[in-house]
Amino acid sequence: MKTSTKISLASGLLLSISLLSISCAKYKSTSIDPGTVTPTKTEEVTLKSAMPFPMGAALNVSLLKSNNNYRNLIIKEFNSVTAENAMKFASLHPSKDTYTWSDADYLIDFANANGMRVHGHTLNWYKSLPDWVNNFQGTTAEWENLLKTHIQTVIGHFKGKVASWDVVNEAINDDGKIRNSIWVQKLGVDYIGRAFQYAHEADPNALLFYNDYGHEFGPTKRTAILNLVNSLKSKGIPIDGIGLQMHTRVTQTDANLATAITTAAATGLKVHISEIDIALNPDNTAGATYTTALADQQAAKYKAIVKAYNSIPKAQQFGITQWNVTDADSWIPSNYNRPDWPLPFDAQYQRKPAYQGILDGIK
Ligand code: G3I
Repeated sequence: MKTSTKISLASGLLLSISLLSISCAKYKSTSIDPGTVTPTKTEEVTLKSAMPFPMGAALNVSLLKSNNNYRNLIIKEFNSVTAENAMKFASLHPSKDTYTWSDADYLIDFANANGMRVHGHTLNWYKSLPDWVNNFQGTTAEWENLLKTHIQTVIGHFKGKVASWDVVNEAINDDGKIRNSIWVQKLGVDYIGRAFQYAHEADPNALLFYNDYGHEFGPTKRTAILNLVNSLKSKGIPIDGIGLQMHTRVTQTDANLATAITTAAATGLKVHISEIDIALNPDNTAGATYTTALADQQAAKYKAIVKAYNSIPKAQQFGITQWNVTDADSWIPSNYNRPDWPLPFDAQYQRKPAYQGILDGIK
């Protein structure tokens, strides 16, 4: 075949493909005026497509396995996931020489299949410890070995699959003092820095976070957290980020929420809003109902948080993660034994005004 014939066949093919793509495109236009056509975009906006930073959710693995509405909503809306419980100490390491990876591995396979980032939660916490740890009788060296072995075995198992970790979770009390956890009792407060070092040794590429709640409560707890992370940084401890859980309430002021975010960014670390939910019934009213007024206030609060977060330097925006997906899955109603509606999706998997609030935060 002559070269010119080949070129003309190839051009014909390209033209047909282009025409086919135009007819299949997700844009509708009613009249064709090549100069002035403004296509109407019919592709639905989603959190992951609309927001300029990763949008995540904490996932319940049992629901992920059993509930297609839950699973499909996650695939549609999010590009980052955290295990709500499946990577905690008691879940992964229920007895001294036994590790159970299956639920966490399931979550990772799901994330990989759907192009999502996985954030690990959490290597060290005072809660969700198995009985064998709470009852462990050992010397200081044996406790140190327990801490190090757990961190390095877990990070090693997920190396290359989990991009980032909450290394230490909630080490500061609401009064700003170091929490008197089993870890501090057995190993002293400097165990915190060593936990980061053990994590870094096991996976030098993982981004390592200190994660806590209550930055928005006021200066006492916030300053203690900032002092802790700044002191880790100044000692050369490998810390990359700070997680602001942001389990907050509709009555919290925008000023406190913004201060929480801007002071975290002032550390120079990456900032992850790591567990957001906004309670509408923080006073535990038994017969409370979900009203339009509350829904609108919640939307405004989500908007204010996103707006403040969108204003910190781009390189520090690790992302925003909500704590589970819909109001039906949130930890709040069962934990506090009250009705509440803290998340951007309702129990029927529908978007609430809070969803629009998130989108409005970047306008
Ligand atoms: O899986 C067992 C089930 O087998 C058993 O029948 C049932 C009876 O209570 O308990 C189930 O385990 C519960 C687990 O959630 C799964 O639902 C635990 O009791 C319960 O304590 C656990 O609560 C979790 C809590 O952390 C403690 O680990 C919440 O789901 C989870 O949302 C919450 O998440 C924390 C973050 O990790 C850290 N920041 C605060 C946040 C909210 O408290």
